[in-house]
Amino acid sequence: MSEATIESVSHENRVFPPSEEFSAQARISTREQYEALYRRSLEDPEGFWREQAEALHWFDAPETIVEWKPPFAKWFVGGTTNLAYNCLDRHLDGPRRNKAAIIWEGEPGDIRVLTYFQLHREVCRFANALEGLGIGKGDRVGIYMGMVPEAAIAMLACARIGAVHSVVFGGFAADAVRDRMNDAQAKAVITQDGAYRRGSVVALKAQVDAAVEQCPSIEHVIVLRRTQNEIEMREGRDHDWHELVANSSSTHQAPALDAEHPLFILYTSGSTGKPKGVLHSTGGYMVGTYLTSRYVFDLREEDTYWCTADVGWVTGHSYIVYGPLANGASAVMYEGAPNAPDPGRFWSIIERHGVSIFYTAPTAVRAFVKWGDDWITKHDLSSLRLLGTVGEPINPEVWVWYRNVVGGGRCPIVDTYWQTETGSIVMTPLPGAVAAKPGSCSLPFFGVSAKVLREDGTEADTNEGGLLCIDRPWPSMLRTVWGDDERYKQQYFSRFEGKYFTGDGARRDEDGFFWVVGRIDDVVNVSGHRLGTAEIESSLVAHALVAEAAVVGIPDEFTGQALVAFVTLKSGNTPSPELADELCQHVGAEIGKFARPKRIRFADAVPKTRSGKIMRRLLRDLAAGKEAHGDMTTLEDIGVLAQLREHEEG
Ligand code: WT7
Repeated sequence: MSEATIESVSHENRVFPPSEEFSAQARISTREQYEALYRRSLEDPEGFWREQAEALHWFDAPETIVEWKPPFAKWFVGGTTNLAYNCLDRHLDGPRRNKAAIIWEGEPGDIRVLTYFQLHREVCRFANALEGLGIGKGDRVGIYMGMVPEAAIAMLACARIGAVHSVVFGGFAADAVRDRMNDAQAKAVITQDGAYRRGSVVALKAQVDAAVEQCPSIEHVIVLRRTQNEIEMREGRDHDWHELVANSSSTHQAPALDAEHPLFILYTSGSTGKPKGVLHSTGGYMVGTYLTSRYVFDLREEDTYWCTADVGWVTGHSYIVYGPLANGASAVMYEGAPNAPDPGRFWSIIERHGVSIFYTAPTAVRAFVKWGDDWITKHDLSSLRLLGTVGEPINPEVWVWYRNVVGGGRCPIVDTYWQTETGSIVMTPLPGAVAAKPGSCSLPFFGVSAKVLREDGTEADTNEGGLLCIDRPWPSMLRTVWGDDERYKQQYFSRFEGKYFTGDGARRDEDGFFWVVGRIDDVVNVSGHRLGTAEIESSLVAHALVAEAAVVGIPDEFTGQALVAFVTLKSGNTPSPELADELCQHVGAEIGKFARPKRIRFADAVPKTRSGKIMRRLLRDLAAGKEAHGDMTTLEDIGVLAQLREHEEG
């Protein structure tokens, strides 16, 4: 058996077609319609993308649609545009002028609504303020903020003037800010005095002060007052947001920027080594996020759309800010935690604002399951018509729960697969056209040529596990790793010449549906069976008492590797050796004896990245009795790790 073969052991075979009502009104209503468009997008990419791009404003129309000199792509060559213009100015001459662009709710309960007219005005003022400080085209600007409308305003203002933003998630501390600012050689950082998080104040400005001590390139720090905690303002370097914009004009002419002008850098930490600065450029990213938002979320003029991500992650970039606004949609933005002040917060937001499209992460859905259905059922969620997930494979049981309890059994779910690097969704069911299978991200989006390959580069058979690749360029793909073309080649294009390797393992079933089994570094080899840990986790989560599970491999003298499962129970259940036994039997019965965990370790929580992915690397070390090593800057809560260690010793 080849090293790359991944056995897929999922037995999921339920199918959930969209309702007739949903399909009838959808932008794409049948699988045939999807297939025809998909085929066209691959057979005539030039024609397809030229047409799609025409929906947006170009100062100069693109001459060449794509230039592919593997591994470097250029899209819409010769075209000039402006993403902020497309998100704002483009909507001002019609009925969207006074439509809500951002419906924002603060954690303490304050609400602000910015219409397209108002958002445009604020972005223009801030763009003028940035230019007034000497920040211009090509300069890098850090954004280290919480979930406030000004974070979106800052991003759009940068995009407008051609400055390259690099958003750093507000949960990171000074060192992470410093490293990212230095790598990007940023000229300015935009921050807040503090951000609200679960009732307390996270002092962001203090972290920036510490970081900037060691960032010689930073000339300006712009500070928004949000929490009124005490901060130091350094004369000459630090500027108060409100004072800056008070004196800025509210008109600003958006310049025509080259389609390949760099738009933003977003750092993503690989499993090892220093974070990679994923670089996206203007035209391709714009068309990709515009089109996916429109078709995947089936966006209509009257929708109230809510993506719960943070702007610090790519999901917040593509599906809170750029994609929805390019479509003229109304997007909800929420500042705080899902359980502030109690686990009913999300559902009260949906009820209060009449949210119709809700997009969140499997890790959040598992938390909802753990908190219990009552928090949900006491709210009126009848405004919802479509649900989505992103971030990791969703366990089929959790998917079904999400559909029934949150979606009232009537809303299609789009399980969207993509990455920071892909810029926009690359695989997903189109909600009116494709019958979903719980746990599968279904089919490739237009223009995405996804393949499951064996180690030797040949295509895997139906249902044979392999490496997930994309063998043609697509508009919103990353252009390089900032300042490091070599790393870009090495990381993404070295496994198969000229093909983008995602780093994920997957299989494709007899319907052509893709099942992502997880990062291939999360593959475990037990007695010659190479298993994606995600499927064993799904089996555990299908047990009535289990809320969450993380499975890792440890060396084993008999089986090569053995499985250790970290298990979090639903509220109100107590761990016991008998339950551990029962869970092992359960996996044995569902998947096969070879997949039975050797050990079950109960835990109150498992360590996750701040974007919600289980940090299996840390768990592997822990399970093998090693001290955790490597980059921990993305760890959500370092306390979780300490607690797991205590349990070990106790
Ligand atoms: C990795 C990318 C892209 C937004 C958030 C994460 C995993 C993402 C799915 C999905 C299975 C998924 C993959 C991918 N992933 N969505 N629907 N089904 N796996 O962005 O931090 O760049 O992570 O998340 O492993 O490679 P990211």
